[in-house]
Amino acid sequence: MRRKKLVVGNWKMNGRIAQNEALLRDILTGVKDLKKADYVACVPYPYLAQAQQLLQGTNLAWGAQNLCADENVALTGSVSPYMLTDYGCSYVIVGHSERRIQFHETDDTAASRFNSAQSAGLTPIFCMGESHDERDSDWTEYIVGRQLDSIIRRFDVSVLSHAVLAYEPLWAVGTDNPATPTQAQEVHEFMRARIARCDKEVAKKVRILYGGSIQPKNAAALFAMPDVDGGLVGRASLNAAQFVEICKQANE
Ligand code: PGA
Repeated sequence: MRRKKLVVGNWKMNGRIAQNEALLRDILTGVKDLKKADYVACVPYPYLAQAQQLLQGTNLAWGAQNLCADENVALTGSVSPYMLTDYGCSYVIVGHSERRIQFHETDDTAASRFNSAQSAGLTPIFCMGESHDERDSDWTEYIVGRQLDSIIRRFDVSVLSHAVLAYEPLWAVGTDNPATPTQAQEVHEFMRARIARCDKEVAKKVRILYGGSIQPKNAAALFAMPDVDGGLVGRASLNAAQFVEICKQANE
């Protein structure tokens, strides 16, 4: 089965209202004629309204980088799934390693957010990945398998039909040390096989993105791997020319 590639920009805590417009307009100009893949910008919460205003009706979708699992409760500073849909988001990143590590997010809380996102009609982009030490100890499959099982065991494998997975090895995120295409393929293949044990059709359908130091110079080789269905792009998504180049590689 040929899966449509997907490129997601993760702006993290970057952006200013004055600069976002130029960045989004330049990206739009670059991707508007690219029909063979899907494109998304995940912007900080305060800029969702700006993204909605600029991107509505275009082929660049927008989303958020996190959400709270609850609705209408006393949780100072949190943002609920329906607040995101109020601003037209279609995607939301869930369980990014920066949130797992710095905000003590666990497999369990990430799974709850995943579920709430889906209940509100959002497509979660569920992040998984091992640390440097875990890879050195040959624990990659154990860690990624456990993270994947936190969804499959708690809900049902069918929920992955409406989700996106992202393999983001911690040692590759925010470094200049991307996984090699072979390293990425090995883990993506492992994930897909684990899903296939539960449901072959879901496994064929689910898009698995690679994330961690994707740049224009390494995107094509990563995207050429049979189980790499696109990318979750951090730093390079803040530069229109670089992001558009990566989107073009996915459109090949
Ligand atoms: P990076 O970030 O591309 O800057 O490594 C990727 C991510 O954290 O999603």
